[in-house]
Amino acid sequence: MQGKHIVLGITGSIAAYKAAVLCRLLKTAGAEVKVVMTPAAKAFITPLTMATLSKNPIAVEFYNPENGDWHSHISLGEWADCLLIAPATANTIAKMATGIADNLLLTTYLSARNRVAIAPAMDCDMFAHTATQHNLDILRSRGVGIIEATEGELASGLHGKGRMAEPESIVESVAALLSEKKKSLQGRRFVVTAGATTEAIDPVRFISNRSTGKMGYALASELAERGAEVTLVSGRTALPAPQGVRRVDVLSAEEMYEAAAAAFGNADGAVMCAAVADYTPETVSPTKIKKGDGDMVIRLKRTRDIAAELGKIKGGRILVGFALESDNEERNAQAKLESKNFDFIVLNSLRDKGACFGTDTNKVTVIDKNSYEELPLMSKHEVAARIIDRIEQKLPNR
Ligand code: CTP
Repeated sequence: MQGKHIVLGITGSIAAYKAAVLCRLLKTAGAEVKVVMTPAAKAFITPLTMATLSKNPIAVEFYNPENGDWHSHISLGEWADCLLIAPATANTIAKMATGIADNLLLTTYLSARNRVAIAPAMDCDMFAHTATQHNLDILRSRGVGIIEATEGELASGLHGKGRMAEPESIVESVAALLSEKKKSLQGRRFVVTAGATTEAIDPVRFISNRSTGKMGYALASELAERGAEVTLVSGRTALPAPQGVRRVDVLSAEEMYEAAAAAFGNADGAVMCAAVADYTPETVSPTKIKKGDGDMVIRLKRTRDIAAELGKIKGGRILVGFALESDNEERNAQAKLESKNFDFIVLNSLRDKGACFGTDTNKVTVIDKNSYEELPLMSKHEVAARIIDRIEQKLPNR
């Protein structure tokens, strides 16, 4: 928890009085806390109490009417390692589930880039209601951490489930959430192409390339660790399928196209990392070709450009490509960025040591319409994380 940024959201529930203890515990654990209250929360606990405990001014409205000072939900959402809403009323939970944005706390939720956790607090009948449970399921499916309400005596005098968890256990849950890999891509679907395609000449021989699939497999693995459903369309490689990934094995560029296009149908995006043959034998001999005395010519025809095909139909989905170049690197990558309709392209230069085929490291430059970012030599897993961070920035918020 040391040094973590927590935005503590407080909503209008009697359990708001526990937010003071919660804030204090978070501070004692080493976190930096900024508090956002809904207007209703002010009736239950004062901004002065929370400002004193958090050692930061409280934000309730979008701006300070006294001096016009703007409270940016975007910067709060970016600042927070965790947005913790405790207590979270049935009303706020319902608005979060449907995307209503009528106060600063809700707009902060919609802008939150990192983890979100809520500690529900309400009367037992409201908690048990199908509508509330359905809304909690929606939030859960988006990766929001639900800190379970407990059973006991409620402010209404009833006895049942709906009491906000105790501050100590909320802090424990938040610490556990922060130490987990963030499931920021929960509910998202991605296609990754990886490895080398093989184009048959006859039942024995084929045309292929030196790709080992390491970069594509690192990308698939990182996407899955962040909670995404991943279809890894894999050409030739010696690597085992990463955990939690659906692998579809293919041979030729045509087979890779079929599998990638099918999975792209309901995906949020695709990363085209495979080394795809640009040419394939015009005919495949059904029997082993016997050698003759003279030389041999194999006529090749063009394969389908999988990335370009997906680029034509991508609509609002994210499409990321790779470019492997040996000269005029930047110009060639720019041309591929445009012609294949990529959101961004990851450039590999054959001139860089420790990059490209077979190595565990890579050195890439990430290029989009407006920017050019040269990354240092790092492991392929680190490169994958940086690429996926960028994909997350481009994904529309849900
Ligand atoms: N790609 C693809 N289908 C192809 C060829 C390439 O999906 N038939 C994708 C690659 O996976 C990569 C990008 O397009 O994301 C660029 O691939 P690259 O081999 O660098 O370029 P090509 O388009 O094949 O062009 P060239 O070989 O002329 O450099």
